[in-house]
Amino acid sequence: MDPGELLIVKSDCVGCHHKENKLIGPAYQEVAAKYPATDENIALLASKIIKGGKGVWGAVPMTPHTKITEDEAKTMVKYILSLKK
Ligand code: HEC
Repeated sequence: MDPGELLIVKSDCVGCHHKENKLIGPAYQEVAAKYPATDENIALLASKIIKGGKGVWGAVPMTPHTKITEDEAKTMVKYILSLKK
């Protein structure tokens, strides 16, 4: 399994996100389609995972994940952005 996918399945992400379908948050494939896998986007999305985010996909905010380190969040984001079709 991809190390980013492993971190995701061990975290609470699955409660709000699915690979292909929108749940409470956007599908990972939608996120991958929106953001090219540049260093800037990886850093931006990693900080959203840690600090929480709102207003990009709709009215529902993403909860912060303060126990996730920047390295772990970046590993998750790299996996998510690799799902681009
Ligand atoms: C409580 C529900 C919830 C949980 C848990 C959650 N998310 Fe989210 N996530 C959301 C919502 C809602 C959005 C859309 C926020 C917005 O519109 O800006 C989002 C957005 C995102 C985005 C895109 C951010 C952007 O600005 O485009 C990424 C990447 C993401 N989540 C990854 C994760 C990862 C990885 C985890 C697990 C560590 C996680 N999420 C856990 C609800 C959640």
